[in-house]
Amino acid sequence: MPSRSAAEIYERVPTQVFPGSAQAAAALAQEVADLIRTKNKAGKPAVLGLATGSTPVPFYRELIRLHKEEKLSFKNVITFNLDEYYGLDASHPESYARFMRDQLFDHIDIPVENINIPSGTVPGDQVFAHCRAYEERIDSAGGIDIQILGIGRTGHIGFNEPGSSRDSLTRRITLDRVTRQDAASDFRGEENVPRFAITMGVGTILRAKKLALMAWGENKAAVVAKALEGPVTEAVSASFLQEHADARFLIDQGAARELTRIKLPWLVGPVSWTPRETRRAVVWQSFHAKRTVLKLTDEDYNEHGLSDLLSEQGPAYQLNIRIFNQLQHTITGWPGGKPDADDTYRPERARPYPKRTLVFSPEPQDAVVGMGGTIDRLVEQGHDVRIVSLTSGSLRVADSEADKFASTLLELASTADTPAAWSHQTDYARDILHILEEKGEFGEDPPKLRRLKGLILRGELRDAAHALGISPDQVVILDLPFYEKGRYRRFKAADDDLAAVKQLLQDFKPHQIYATGDAADPSSVSAITFRLIESALRACEFEEWSSSCSFWVYRGKERPLEPHEIDMAVPMSPVQIERKARALSRYAALSSLEKDAPESNRQNARTYDTLGMAEYEAIESFHRWKRS
Ligand code: GLP
Repeated sequence: MPSRSAAEIYERVPTQVFPGSAQAAAALAQEVADLIRTKNKAGKPAVLGLATGSTPVPFYRELIRLHKEEKLSFKNVITFNLDEYYGLDASHPESYARFMRDQLFDHIDIPVENINIPSGTVPGDQVFAHCRAYEERIDSAGGIDIQILGIGRTGHIGFNEPGSSRDSLTRRITLDRVTRQDAASDFRGEENVPRFAITMGVGTILRAKKLALMAWGENKAAVVAKALEGPVTEAVSASFLQEHADARFLIDQGAARELTRIKLPWLVGPVSWTPRETRRAVVWQSFHAKRTVLKLTDEDYNEHGLSDLLSEQGPAYQLNIRIFNQLQHTITGWPGGKPDADDTYRPERARPYPKRTLVFSPEPQDAVVGMGGTIDRLVEQGHDVRIVSLTSGSLRVADSEADKFASTLLELASTADTPAAWSHQTDYARDILHILEEKGEFGEDPPKLRRLKGLILRGELRDAAHALGISPDQVVILDLPFYEKGRYRRFKAADDDLAAVKQLLQDFKPHQIYATGDAADPSSVSAITFRLIESALRACEFEEWSSSCSFWVYRGKERPLEPHEIDMAVPMSPVQIERKARALSRYAALSSLEKDAPESNRQNARTYDTLGMAEYEAIESFHRWKRS
C-alpha cells in the first residue's frame, strides 16, 4: 500500500486516484492474478468476492485478457457474488447470474461448481435458509480473500441500502428508490425494476480479508466523498469500509472530484495557482462569503485558507477584478464567433465566418437538451450547422411506441381501399407485434425492432431540429454499430465505430465541434462516443482543417459546469428558452433531468448573477476541450 500523503488526511480509507478506469482496473486485475497464483502455488483455491454493475466491467475485461494472453487459470478459483435481484431467474437478461456469465465466466476456465451467486428465484419461505447456507458456503471455502466492490449512488455496497447495519448478513432487502431509478434504463423504465434483492450483508462483506472498492465518473463523486471523508454510518454502507483493516478505494479523477484534496486543495497544503485553480478559489470564496466577486475583501481570503493566494496574486481588489473580467469574457451571444469584431477576449474566433459547425449528440436528444439555445443562435447567425446523432438511441424507445406504430400501420392497411396492395406493410406490422409479444417486457430487442425504434426517434430528432430552424438534411444519424450490438452499461466501441466518426469529420471538415460526455460515467453512451470523437480527431490531427478546429464540450443530463470550468457562457432570452422547451417537447421519452434542462439553464444564469455578472434569463455553458 502506498504511504499516505498529507493531502489525503481527510480520507479515512487508503485511496488511489487513477487517470482513468482502465489503469485502475488493470492494477487491480494484476493484483488478483498474483493472489490466484500465490494461493494456487500453496495448493489452495483463491476465493474471490465479485460484484456486478458497469464499474467492474473493465476489471473483468482485463481478467479475461490475462486468462487468454497470459494463461491465468481460474480452475482453482471459487467465486461468491454479492447479490442478485429477487424475482429474476438466472437466464433473465438483467439477472446478475446472466451478467456474470456474459462479462466473465463464459470467457474463462472456471468450473461451474465453483461459482456462487444468490438465487433470485428461491421461494419466499426458503429465503432465510438459502441466505444462511450462502454464509456457510463462504466460511467453508475458507472466507473471501478479496472482495471486489462497486458503490451505488445511495452509498450501498452489494445491495445494502441505507439503514443496513454493520453486522447484517446475507438477506433479502427492499431496493431504494434511487437505486431503482439508476437501474431504470436497464429495465426500460423504473416500474420494471425488481423491488427486492438478495444481498450479502455489510457484516458478510467486512469478513473478507481484503476489500477493493472501485468507482468511476463524476456521478459517483458525492457518495465517494461521503463514504471516505464522512462519519461511519448506516446511512452510507460503504462508510463501514473505514472499519476494515485492509480496505481501499480505487477511483478515477471524476469520482475523486468531491474529495477535499481535489475540491478545496488549499485546505490541505500548498497549491500551485494555475489560472483555473485561481478562478475556482475566487468563485468558491464568493459563494462561501455570499458576496459578489468584486466585493470580496482581503479578510475573506485570509480567513478561509486563501492567504497564500492573496500573497501571490493579491491584494483582493486586483485579484477580484482579474477574475471578474475573466468571467465576463466567457459571456457571448456569438457562439460561432462575432464576424468583424475584435476577438482578443472572445471565447470563439471571429473568422472564418460563417463556420461549419458539427454538433455531436450521443443519442438523438442530448444535443437539444444540452445546447438547444446555442444551436438556435448558431443557425440564426448564419453558420452551417449539422446535428449528428452518433447512435440511433433505439434503446430509449418504449415498446409501446413500436406497438403504436405497428398497430396504426395494420389498421391503415386493413381499412385501405385495396388491402391487397398493403400486404407487405401488413406482414411487417404483424411481425413487429409478434416480436413484441414474444420477447415480453424485458427481452432483448431483435435488430428489426431496434431499427423501427431507431426510426421513431429519428423522426423526433427531425421534429426537434426543425423547431430550432434546422432542416432535415442538416441532421445526420450515424447509427454507430457498438450501440446497435450493445446494451446500457456494457457497451464496447470498436474500429468500425471509430472509422465512421473519422469519415464524418473528414467529409465535413468542421471549424467548430460541440460534443458531450467526458465526465459523468465512463460507461455511458456519451462517454464512449466522446472518446471516439477524441480518437478520431487525433487520427486527423495533421489535416489542415483539424489544427484550427475548436472543440467545445457541453453538458447534457449531467451536473452542469461549475463557473470556474466555463469557457463560454451563451445567454438565452426568455423567447429562446421557450423555443428550446418546445424542441424538447418533441421527444416522447425524456428523463426528468432532461426535461429540467431549461430550469438548469436558468440556474446557470442565477449562478452568474450571484457572482455579480449581468443578470440573464438563462445560460448554456461550455468548456474548451484541450486535445490530448
Ligand atoms: C448495483 C449493484 C452494486 C453496484 C451498483 C453500482 O446496485 N448491486 O453492487 O455497485 O449497482 O452500479 P454501477 O457499477 O453500474 O454504477
